[in-house]
Amino acid sequence: MNIFVTGGAGYIGSHTCVALLEAGHSVVVADNLCNSKEETIDRIKEITGKDVVFYKADVTDEAAVDDIFSKHKIDGVIHFAGLKAVGESVEKPLEYYYNNLVATMVVSKVCKKYGVNKFVFSSSATVYGDNEVPFVETMKLLPTTNPYGETKAMSERILTDIAKANKDFSVALLRYFNPVGAHESGLIGEDPNGIPNNLMPFITKVAKGKLNKLRVFGNDYPTVDGTGVRDFIHVMDLAEGHVAALDKLTAGVHIYNLGTGQGTSVLQLLDAFERANNIKVPYEIVDRRPGDIATCYADATKARIELNWVAKRGIFEMCRDAWNFEKNQ
Ligand code: NAD
Ligand code: WQD
Repeated sequence: MNIFVTGGAGYIGSHTCVALLEAGHSVVVADNLCNSKEETIDRIKEITGKDVVFYKADVTDEAAVDDIFSKHKIDGVIHFAGLKAVGESVEKPLEYYYNNLVATMVVSKVCKKYGVNKFVFSSSATVYGDNEVPFVETMKLLPTTNPYGETKAMSERILTDIAKANKDFSVALLRYFNPVGAHESGLIGEDPNGIPNNLMPFITKVAKGKLNKLRVFGNDYPTVDGTGVRDFIHVMDLAEGHVAALDKLTAGVHIYNLGTGQGTSVLQLLDAFERANNIKVPYEIVDRRPGDIATCYADATKARIELNWVAKRGIFEMCRDAWNFEKNQ
């Protein structure tokens, strides 16, 4: 299939382009490069030996998206493009609601015009809010603590309503847990601008000496060692989950957790990183970060049964590959 990948120069999008190309699909990428670099597209070509059609385009711009669909026969869409910094979304709610919701609406509107009925959407475990773990797809969603999370819940709702009104439309809502790691080549990976918000990129920057020490946000949670517990998933496993979802897509709405089903604490991840890479990462315990929950991990049964997909790579590979990418930067 020829897949339109929005946000394909970004972290998860670039790894998914690799997985799509390796599975025999072709890709047309649109990215406005607000949080990525065009050289990532060259890296995707280098890894796969395949071509990538790239447009520097903003997918909130309907004319630009329409122009791309008029030039290429698109069979399906994977929509990654969006702003994703939770804290920033509290400071700039309008930018987040506008960018993330308009992007979802424009891309689905153009899909409708061109009769493209396969749509895969990047959602997030954040839509579960503070439900009981493990999070299951059938749970009632709880309010999130920030505009970013609300854009994911609202986009899910928009796409669900489109599917209700159009019986030919097929949509997969993929709820990612905590993606980490990088392609094993070390050519692509997570390279956030400025000081990272997320744990793994912060650890790799400390390991490299670009930041002094990790601040561990709270050690008084009701968890194995008091630090937060998350379901870290290797980004290549996540990427392969998209290919599986696309291949199995049938009419209607299909929701899948993409996680490993295993919880790992902040200190356990730190210890694994030090042992996998033989590097010390200094840290201090500080106060809890507002809005954080204690524990988050998936029930990943549905994706295993329906998509025949499971995460294959463990914490060791996640830590090794994250460092392999960062040390070459
Ligand atoms: P990323 O920032 O690396 O990638 C997003 C890409 O979208 C970037 O390349 C950015 O330049 C582009 N973009 C943003 N707005 C755009 C627009 N209007 N038009 C065109 N391009 C635009 O982020 P990521 O980690 O790869 O996340 C991809 C998707 O997955 C996002 O929707 C994010 O919300 C979602 N997600 C990410 C995580 C995570 O922890 N990384 C977890 C759950 C869900
Ligand atoms: C993980 C754990 C922190 C940084 C976020 C979004 C979520 C999804 C994934 C997009 C927590 C602790 C972190 C640090 C720390 N994104 N931590 N020191 O918060 O689980 O999820 O990214 O959809 O929506 O909220 O990920 O990597 O920020 O934090 O101690 O410097 O690491 O407190 O327990 P989080 P994270």
